[in-house]
Amino acid sequence: MSEREQPRRETVTLIDNATGRRVELPVRRGTHGPAVIEIGRLYKELGYFTYDPGFLSTASCRSAITFIDGERGVLLYRGYPIEQLAEHSTFLEVAYLLLYGELPDREQLRRFEDTITHHTMINESLKSFYQGFYHDAHPMAIMVGVVGSLSAFYHDSTDIRNPRHREVAAHRLIAKMPTIAAASYKHSVGEPIVYPRNDLSYVGNLLRMMFAVPTEDYVVHPVAERALDLIFILHADHEQNASTSTVRLAGSSAANPFACVASGIAALWGPAHGGANEAVLRMLAEIGNVRNIPKYIAKAKDKNDPFRLMGFGHRVYKNYDPRARIIRRMCHEVLRELGDDNDPLFELALRLEEEALRDEYFIERHLYPNVDFYSGLIYRAIGIPTNMFTVMFSIARTAGWVAQWMEMIADPEQRIGRPRQLYDGPPRRDYVPLEQREPARAAGGVHFQGEARVTD
Ligand code: SDX
Repeated sequence: MSEREQPRRETVTLIDNATGRRVELPVRRGTHGPAVIEIGRLYKELGYFTYDPGFLSTASCRSAITFIDGERGVLLYRGYPIEQLAEHSTFLEVAYLLLYGELPDREQLRRFEDTITHHTMINESLKSFYQGFYHDAHPMAIMVGVVGSLSAFYHDSTDIRNPRHREVAAHRLIAKMPTIAAASYKHSVGEPIVYPRNDLSYVGNLLRMMFAVPTEDYVVHPVAERALDLIFILHADHEQNASTSTVRLAGSSAANPFACVASGIAALWGPAHGGANEAVLRMLAEIGNVRNIPKYIAKAKDKNDPFRLMGFGHRVYKNYDPRARIIRRMCHEVLRELGDDNDPLFELALRLEEEALRDEYFIERHLYPNVDFYSGLIYRAIGIPTNMFTVMFSIARTAGWVAQWMEMIADPEQRIGRPRQLYDGPPRRDYVPLEQREPARAAGGVHFQGEARVTD
């Protein structure tokens, strides 16, 4: 391309009004969405850091995997609209798309499904790991521990500089999450762990490993199988959300992929993130009746009340979360098919949404139902207990986590993530020997008051 045809180099100029110094920073445009200002030289040339807690306006990386238009409620996986994938695809086909960037042909899909199927077993000695947990351990606590321990078994796929190792580790993680999740559930109900079967679908295997018992045959319900597969498609990836960013940051230090995904599971567990689906069901049960909706909406609006409407609001979507719209529609079908079509909690959820979306507080803050608002109702209709809802989310999101991790490792621009800070602690001061220190007074600041002996 001749000099004349070179695309015009876009820049922005930042001027320090205190000193008059200025720096010209390059602008980079992507396929969709806002352009970015490359600020890497800012500190060196102008002596400033940027400050953006929560990363409201900060891109941490470039990615070709998922795109969200929050204003228009658009979600694309590798350019394909989520609505079309939800209608026509399967979770494993979507996992392939996220990992490899294109929809597979028939043979590629068959081979990928076969590969995943033949990685579903876990090392037999992992079963004793579960015995170390109380029966009432939260399944997400078990997931963090067991997934993190996988690297102890797979030394043959932890050389992250080896593309083949990265691919095998990705396949193993996608394949083993349902087996590990189902075993977590079985431990919590005191039933024997069920082995995967190679003649079942990805989701059919999960349902059978969760609900089959040695005393009778288990038949996978096709409506539950399709509903769960669809929910997994909707949860598979979502740009640089908190858990994906955690996986990327852990991966930037060259940690092994099993440890990185374990860190993602830990981040997902928070009720502000993936833990919201479990929190929504608990919130609906607490509201209990449509008559109580105004009281809880008032609580959600009250700045002095920590209560928030779980399943509502989103950092990026300032419109209806397209996934919530699909799940809401699916709720009707699944509840009707599974015989719960007059589920009082579903009716309550619909009325709560209706009331909230009429309220100025929610309207002016663009607070709409997000993916977690309705998903728990479907999990419940399928028979999945509330404390397993976020575990379901983690199974699906593993496809996105490993795809994003592989993209990051292969990106020549990526280096260890090491954010800077604005320091507002004490100025430099000299050490004071113990005998010269004033008695610590309770007034002002937080002082250690000592605590009563705590027995386990
Ligand atoms: C997921 O990032 C992703 O993509 C996540 C996810 C994914 O697929 O990975 O989509 C999955 O995590 C969905 C979100 C699930 N979490 C919840 O449903 C928990 C309830 N929602 C909120 O906690 C909140 O909306 C967040 C955490 C989702 C977003 O928080 P933000 O972007 O930091 O927004 P904010 O807390 O600054 O809220 C802006 C305003 C505030 O009021 P003001 O200070 O402006 O007066 O909206 C209010 C908030 O108080 N607000 C809510 C509210 N959510 C925001 N008020 C009541 N109820 C809520 N749910």
